[in-house]
Amino acid sequence: MKKFNIFALAILVFASNLVAQKSKIDDPKMDWWKEAKFGMFIHWGLYCIPSGEWNGKKTTNIAEWILTDLKIPVAEYKNYANQFNPTKFNAEELVLLAKEAGMKYMVLTAKHHEGFAMFKSTNPFNIVDATPYKKDVVQQLADACKKHNMPLGLYYSQAQDWTHPGGGMYCKHWDAAQEGSFSKYIDDVALPQVKEIMEKFNPRIIWWDTPAEMTPAEAKKFTDYLAKYPNLITNDRLGGGVHGDLETPEQYIPATGIPGKNWESCMTMNGTWGFSRFDHNWKSTETLVRNLVDIASKGGNYLLNVGPTPEGEVPMPSIERLKEVGAWMKENGEAIYGTKASPFSQLAWGRVTQKAKGSNTMLYVSVFDWPKDGKLAISGLENKVLKAYPLANKNIILKVEVKEAEKIIDVKAVKQSTFTTVIVLEIKGKPVVNNSPSITSESSVFTDKIEFNLSENTVNGEIRYTTDGTAPTAVSALANGTISVNATQNTTVKAASFVKGKRVSAVSEVTYKIEKPLSPAYAGKPGIKYNYYEGSWEKLPDFSKLTPVKSGVVDNFNINERKVDLYYGFTFDGYINVPETDVYAFYLKSDDGSKLIIDDVKILGNDGTHGMDEKRLDVALEKGLHKISIQFFQHGGGQGLSLEWKQTGKNRKLVDKSVLSY
Ligand code: GLC
Repeated sequence: MKKFNIFALAILVFASNLVAQKSKIDDPKMDWWKEAKFGMFIHWGLYCIPSGEWNGKKTTNIAEWILTDLKIPVAEYKNYANQFNPTKFNAEELVLLAKEAGMKYMVLTAKHHEGFAMFKSTNPFNIVDATPYKKDVVQQLADACKKHNMPLGLYYSQAQDWTHPGGGMYCKHWDAAQEGSFSKYIDDVALPQVKEIMEKFNPRIIWWDTPAEMTPAEAKKFTDYLAKYPNLITNDRLGGGVHGDLETPEQYIPATGIPGKNWESCMTMNGTWGFSRFDHNWKSTETLVRNLVDIASKGGNYLLNVGPTPEGEVPMPSIERLKEVGAWMKENGEAIYGTKASPFSQLAWGRVTQKAKGSNTMLYVSVFDWPKDGKLAISGLENKVLKAYPLANKNIILKVEVKEAEKIIDVKAVKQSTFTTVIVLEIKGKPVVNNSPSITSESSVFTDKIEFNLSENTVNGEIRYTTDGTAPTAVSALANGTISVNATQNTTVKAASFVKGKRVSAVSEVTYKIEKPLSPAYAGKPGIKYNYYEGSWEKLPDFSKLTPVKSGVVDNFNINERKVDLYYGFTFDGYINVPETDVYAFYLKSDDGSKLIIDDVKILGNDGTHGMDEKRLDVALEKGLHKISIQFFQHGGGQGLSLEWKQTGKNRKLVDKSVLSY
């Protein structure tokens, strides 16, 4: 379902064709933004009036997409403007709420995909000319931001405008009012409005969205115009291969950040950006605080969304959470603002951020899982700890004991903060961390032999490992190249770095599972059987209870036999011919949900509404034919399904008709 992911793919393709652009990570214009770390996203437009329901029908999509989701006639949707009278909107209160939450910038939707401008524009479909309210919301927020010294960014949906001719290409038109040329829409609406918002409000950020449809030549019209604003920050969603200054992971936190890039995870507090009166699925404040800490520890910013109501108020559950986040930030903000990513590759129990203090370094250790024995063990840190204390109470000096590769901090006396407690370590010099070795192998399962590689970052270090479950010591086996071990049961590999006979890193471990290869089945005809269904689901339905619209045989797991693009499903059933007894990795990729089943017992799930997402299953198979089936459904937005496989030591390839039968 997620529109953006499919667009992100398109950008990647574009980007690889373009001359590499200079990375903007060290551009001084980004300094304030990097210091800020935490911002408020505000999705507000006409969609707050239907707030998830039109004509008795509820949208299953995010609330601001209701127009295209339910294919509301354009004229009827535009009529919502007559009802839009947000008299309770108070721009100053909103800015003060963001401040109270500890947020350091705000990004408001000046125009979303619905095409309605929240500012006075020459295009009449705007808040001043088309509503009884008649006041410019962007202007009010810009004034309040100025008064309170709050940097303002504006979101502008340049490539989708569902109510203007030519602006709804991506969503496919359902109303004659949408017919027209995209390029003309760019020249007549998008470019002039971008000029309007730049000239009137001079925002610090322009937050583009959904790059689809934009050609490099069209995108250039925007970048040419904006060249006269050298301090303006833009994101990566303009399209046409333009990178912008920041990457924008949507609704997730990249596992290892995005090294070498400025990035900002944008996330909702419930499940939708625009106000929905049906979505009560609010994240806990603990989750919000920990997301912020997690993002900062990976070097990014957090743009957290609110969706005001038709009256112009932020929903109460959002206000409560923002105030709680703010209370935590008041005590612990030092661990967030102006910090850099953690020097530790991973910590099971918490997150770390860092900041230079003269020639020394402050490490902010946010403890998610508090140690039961009151002893916090930090592994692999070479530097001398000059001082340790809880951030919320700097007067409590904590004892630090050095034991092997661990610095053990006695936190018994620390009163834990709500949501997460931060311990500060002032260390001598720049951090030097011996991360525990990474253990990698082609597969997580094996039949008779495990093969793995070990690597680490320690200067002059060596890796020692065990495969019998014991902790590695200075005399354990020494890693050298690919290690191959015969085994007859599940096997745990443990490894650590050593320097001059002393362990200097934490111990890392991976458990490999032994599998008996599944036995083969009987032969059939080439291809695979499919059933095609129509319907709208957010999870895989029980297809066995539904009647297919169409059935037949296809060459592989493709979805080309569908009759519609937005809401449908497929099941595929047949056999796969396994060439040799071995461990095979299957890669199931889909947008939206899918499930792979082998021999009725091995199941790989990739369910739910999401963008193109890949899941992997390792399975040992005997030579011969094995039962294989896939279930799949599509729910609006981007679509796609593919299955690839890889025999250990060989190349990855598509599961196609050369190996499929039914
Ligand atoms: C998506 C959606 C949109 C939302 C945005 C926020 O691209 O189209 O509704 O505004 O993400 O990141």
